[in-house]
Amino acid sequence: MRRDQPTHLPQSCITPEPVYRRRRELLQLLGLGAAALAAGCGSEAAAPQAAAPEAKLPDKSLAVASHVDDANGEAQTTYADATHYNNFYEFGTNKSDPAAHSARFVAHPWSVEIAGLAEKTGRFTLEDILKGQALEERVYRMRCVEAWSMVIPWAGFPLADLLKRFKPLASAKYVAFTTVERPAQMPGLAYPILDWPYREGLRIDEAMHSLTLLAVGMYGRELPNQNGAPLRLVVPWKYGFKGIKSIVKIEFVERQPRTTWNLMAADEYGFYANVNPAVDHPRWSQKTERRIAGTGFNLFGNRIETLPFNGYAEQVAHLYAGMDLRKNF
Ligand code: MTE
Repeated sequence: MRRDQPTHLPQSCITPEPVYRRRRELLQLLGLGAAALAAGCGSEAAAPQAAAPEAKLPDKSLAVASHVDDANGEAQTTYADATHYNNFYEFGTNKSDPAAHSARFVAHPWSVEIAGLAEKTGRFTLEDILKGQALEERVYRMRCVEAWSMVIPWAGFPLADLLKRFKPLASAKYVAFTTVERPAQMPGLAYPILDWPYREGLRIDEAMHSLTLLAVGMYGRELPNQNGAPLRLVVPWKYGFKGIKSIVKIEFVERQPRTTWNLMAADEYGFYANVNPAVDHPRWSQKTERRIAGTGFNLFGNRIETLPFNGYAEQVAHLYAGMDLRKNF
């Protein structure tokens, strides 16, 4: 049975059911009741409007060697909205939490472990990873599974450029990614809401696709902490939860890796997570999305139709030829 989202509720109030259940159990354990839950939802909705005007740009600007608009010239999301309406559960489950609680996070120095089925593996500093790598600016439409979307100018480089340097073996069929786990700097880790650390994965051909980016910046600046500093994945034809933030490990593996949201609720969050208006989420439709862009944060307006593969079908549909995308959602 599908339970549809009541239309009078803002999308920002949709909390994934397993998270909602666990949060309720936790609050009960802590002796907090329904009021705390309602406050969580309310602050999600209210925060971006309050926070938006004073979005501070990170100090460091990035030199980009090229610029590609892969969003058809669509209006970009304001920097304030892109940095104050976030999902980064390590800092809390409300959209305003990542901006509010990530100031203490230390993104430099940073290193990434490259492991698994490749000729070369080991631990590499961020400087090693970026050495000799030209940064591109790519403007992408980004579609969250919660049915809102943004248009964001990322600064990064194709993940393929990095992966090829380690010479993956023929047996490497998938790539698994892990986020850093630092309880002292990430207050959300105190709550067993997700199975930490946050993990994601791609099939190797998806990882090697030229649209798949490792991003180190946005809007011409370094990534702010709430958006996944210093290094995150960006896969524009998939729901946003595939875009794992603050990556510390990349592993070449033979079997499909276990991923955080799929572990949490396999019937709601598939491994592929390709944007698909024909496959509803069990609790809401995926046919349309609320575009947060152009005029700034607009809770009720800017509703547009969702496109297969988020509008990138021409570039990526062939990767899934012959697959039943209702089963492999
Ligand atoms: N990565 C980590 N480590 N933790 C998270 O909670 N949330 C995901 C993804 N990456 C998440 C994460 C989800 S659900 C989305 S929609 C995007 O990050 C949001 O990215 P943004 O806040 O930069 O828009």
